[in-house]
Amino acid sequence: MKIIGTGSSLPSLSVTNEMLSVFLDTSDEWIRSRTGILERRIISDENLKDLAIEASQKALDDAGLTGSELDYIICSNVVNYYVTPSISCLVAGGIQAACPCVDLNAACTGFLYCLDMAAAYIAAKKAKNILVVCAEEPTRMCSWKDRNTAVLFGDAAAAAVVTEGDAFRASRISAFHRPEVLYYQRPLEDCPFVKYQQRGVPLYMNGKEVFKLAVNASTQGIENILADTGLTADQVDHYILHQANMRIIETVRTQLRQPPHKFPHNIESRGNTSSASIPLLLDEMHRNGTLQYGDTVVLCGFGAGFTTGTCLFTWTMNE
Ligand code: COA
Repeated sequence: MKIIGTGSSLPSLSVTNEMLSVFLDTSDEWIRSRTGILERRIISDENLKDLAIEASQKALDDAGLTGSELDYIICSNVVNYYVTPSISCLVAGGIQAACPCVDLNAACTGFLYCLDMAAAYIAAKKAKNILVVCAEEPTRMCSWKDRNTAVLFGDAAAAAVVTEGDAFRASRISAFHRPEVLYYQRPLEDCPFVKYQQRGVPLYMNGKEVFKLAVNASTQGIENILADTGLTADQVDHYILHQANMRIIETVRTQLRQPPHKFPHNIESRGNTSSASIPLLLDEMHRNGTLQYGDTVVLCGFGAGFTTGTCLFTWTMNE
């Protein structure tokens, strides 16, 4: 498998830390020093479906394909206004695709899960051209009265088109049972036969525990993928990590003894955009010329579940 196009789309509203401190007991200094976030984009008058369609169309244009040439659409999404039909079906309508569509929820690890699934479909010759699109609005899971979570997230959609090729060299995904550290429960409709109430719980996070799990999973995931490919950490050009906290990225970088320029980041202006964070950064690096033909790239993510994923590939665009 190889990536042949990327695209992304952001909401227009930029929300700074100062804007949050107007209605939350927080400060720019606290958010900046604990997370690295300065501002984030938040959906106001857009909707997520349209951002997902725009990101997908840009990725198709970049790949030189039309929607009708896709064999499969896999969308990573945790929440959006529609529970059904899937957001991937809504995207298909927006890009004139007529292929099978499925949504996948692996929380913030979604892009790694999508790529792993796409690679399996391509290897099995069940599909050739696959659109992977990550569309997330985590700002709709938080309580905006809870400073522990509301300051961390931003919204975005980002996509990649993949096809047959031999650029992908290794992929590992995993999940272990730790739902209590990070979860969101949404209200369901009342039913006359249900004898208990499910009113929903806004996003809950045990920040310190998630921090430890994230650092350990990321470092271990990268070491495993290096072992799978027989490469050393020094031979990788770019480590694109889930953008959840600058301190997590820095801790992993230090443990791997790598220089800062190999760990790109956009968390300062995007916040944590859940599964969209890795493909969003990938798209930005592709479009600003940071990724060069032949570069070795590691993607590494983690999220609620607790899910983790890592993959390694050669960048084969911009030859
Ligand atoms: N502004 C000001 N104070 C805040 C705050 C905010 N936005 N959010 C929390 N606090 C307070 C807490 O109430 C707590 O106060 P207390 O000590 O009086 O109870 C205190 O800050 C906690 O501070 P600290 O221990 O320094 O926090 P931290 O270093 O653990 O940082 C996180 C908090 C959330 C930034 C950090 O734990 C983290 O990033 N964890 C991982 C999150 C993550 O990756 N999530 C995404 C998973 S996909």
